[in-house]
Amino acid sequence: MEENFSVVISEGDLARRVRELGAEISRDYAGRTPVLVSVLKGSFIFLADLARAITVPINLDFMAITRYGAGKRGGVVRIEKDLDLSITGRDVLFVEDIVDTGLTLGYLMRNLQAREPAGLAVCTLLDRRVRRLASLPIRYTGFEVPDRFLVGYGLDHREKYRNLPHIAALPEEGSGPGQPGMMIPPGYS
Ligand code: PRP
Repeated sequence: MEENFSVVISEGDLARRVRELGAEISRDYAGRTPVLVSVLKGSFIFLADLARAITVPINLDFMAITRYGAGKRGGVVRIEKDLDLSITGRDVLFVEDIVDTGLTLGYLMRNLQAREPAGLAVCTLLDRRVRRLASLPIRYTGFEVPDRFLVGYGLDHREKYRNLPHIAALPEEGSGPGQPGMMIPPGYS
């Protein structure tokens, strides 16, 4: 890892929290076969670990999108690769790596809801709520994170660092070494 990166969530804490989320999802979806839907690329590591922590049968599917408008975060989304599976009448669990403004998720929720699934819930590993512009119901959250640029465990900076086994923060202008501290998942003290 770059020496001036700081670890925000360790590999062990990620593994523990993903196991907890998998157990919770398995309880909630007992007797059902949810479709886990994910958007390339950032979610791929979280999805791979979460899927193996879920003990009910699942289906998996992927979308690819591009965003444009006023910068990348303009909130206008174009679907480049759509789902292969029909989700009409299915229990859909949408899996995200991170929710920031919520504009991407808001668009995709409206798009998926129009296909009339039996249920549509969101599971995000990271919630950077401080940046939220659109209010969204998120059923499962791994960790709330501060307003720092994060990489690793699927998240990139210019397509690098997705393979770091932990979540790290890029250095902030003027910040000292070793910041910030470890993040705490909701419900933990
Ligand atoms: C991330 C993440 C969400 C989106 C969230 O994707 O996977 O799709 O940003 O941002 P929002 O809440 O502000 O809309 P990113 O652009 O990093 O692409 P990637 O998954 O290919 O890395």
